[in-house]
Formats: sequence, C-alpha cells, structure tokens
Amino acid sequence: MPLRPAIARDTDFLWRVLLEAYNWNGEQRFTLEQLVADPYAARYLVGWPRRGDFGVVDETDAGEPVGAAWARCLPEDEPGYGFVAPDVPELTLGVLPGQRGRGHGRALMEALIRAAGERPASVDRLSLSVEDGNPAVRLYTSLGFTRVGRNGGSETMLLDVRTPNP
Ligand SMILES: CC(C)(COP(=O)(O)OP(=O)(O)OC[C@H]1O[C@@H](n2cnc3c(N)ncnc32)[C@H](O)[C@@H]1OP(=O)(O)O)[C@@H](O)C(=O)NCCC(=O)NCCS
Repeated sequence: MPLRPAIARDTDFLWRVLLEAYNWNGEQRFTLEQLVADPYAARYLVGWPRRGDFGVVDETDAGEPVGAAWARCLPEDEPGYGFVAPDVPELTLGVLPGQRGRGHGRALMEALIRAAGERPASVDRLSLSVEDGNPAVRLYTSLGFTRVGRNGGSETMLLDVRTPNP
C-alpha cells in the first residue's frame, strides 16, 4: 500500500475523505454539497494546501487513493472541533468504506505522525476530535493520543509527537 504526501491535486479526494469522517457511522448525515457549504466543515480544507498544512494519501498498487490523513492549524476565532491551540494542527482521517479493516487507517496515522515531527511541518502536538461511539478512538488511543477535553458529543484528543509511544 504506497503512501505519499497529499498535494493540491488530491483536494477532491480529501473532500471525499472529510465526508467519510463526518458520516463515520455509515449514515448519510451530510452530503458533499452540505459540507462544502458549511463554514465549520470547510475550514478543514478550504484553500488546500495552505502554508503549514501537511497530509498523506494511501493508494492501491494501481494508484487509486483509498484513504487520507491531513492536519491543519486553525485560529482560535475559527477553530475546528478538536481545537487545542492555534499552533496545534488538528487532523482528519478517513478510509473509503470498502477498504477498511486492512491496516490503511493505522498506516496513514503513523505516516502523518512521522510527517508532523519532520520539517517543514515540525510541530510538537497533533489534536483531533472523535465523536462518542466512533471505534476509531481505539486506534487513536493505541497510537498514544489522550483525552484532553470535550466539545459537544465528541472527545478532543492530543498527541505529543516528540514523545515516543510506549
Ligand atoms: C477510522 C478509520 C480511518 C480506520 O481505518 P481502517 O483502515 O479501517 O483501520 P485499520 O484497518 O488500520 O485498523 C486500525 C484500528 O482501528 C480500530 N478501528 C477503527 N474502526 C473500527 C471499526 N469500525 N471497528 C473496529 N475497529 C475499528 C481497530 O482498533 C484497529 O486496530 P488494529 O490495528 O489493532 O487492528 C476507518 O474506519 C474510517 O474511515 N472510518 C470512518 C471515518 C472516521 O471515522 N474517521 C475518523 C473520524 S475521527
């Protein structure tokens, strides 16, 4: 499963992944049109890639993207759901429904965490928001993310990327 950095050409695929993250429980709670029109959702991708953004895409051997993870810093007055601080990028993760359970999600997270610690990203921490009931929380916990707060019906989780995961 080849992993590569996410670039401008991946924008449409990243929107699709954002939709999967919003519809994580399999219900079609949002359409792509609704996400694009929703200023809270659009914050995660508008203008991709902006300075400081970084991400990874996982592909099949045939070059078809199957999942992505990316991170972006958002300002305090326009925060994401998993906002911790303006210098802490919040990540988004998703794998296409037919491709789950094969290790793509974990591989994407590990690659994103590596990228966070390297230049040019070089950030100390990564945050995320995971809605209550989403089993993805097990993946995050196993990677060393810890709960640092709540926002509505979601947990905010944080990882210190400089501390090796025991
Ligand atoms: C979360 C998600 C990205 C995981 O991707 P994946 O390719 O299925 O994950 P992997 O096969 O690498 O599995 C990684 C871990 O995820 C956990 N996990 C994630 N979703 C799970 C589910 N629906 N059921 C059971 N375990 C799940 C498992 O603990 C697994 O642990 P393991 O590596 O020890 O087996 C994928 O399920 C997805 O896209 N879900 C919908 C979007 C979403 O929820 N995004 C995150 C929003 S916070």
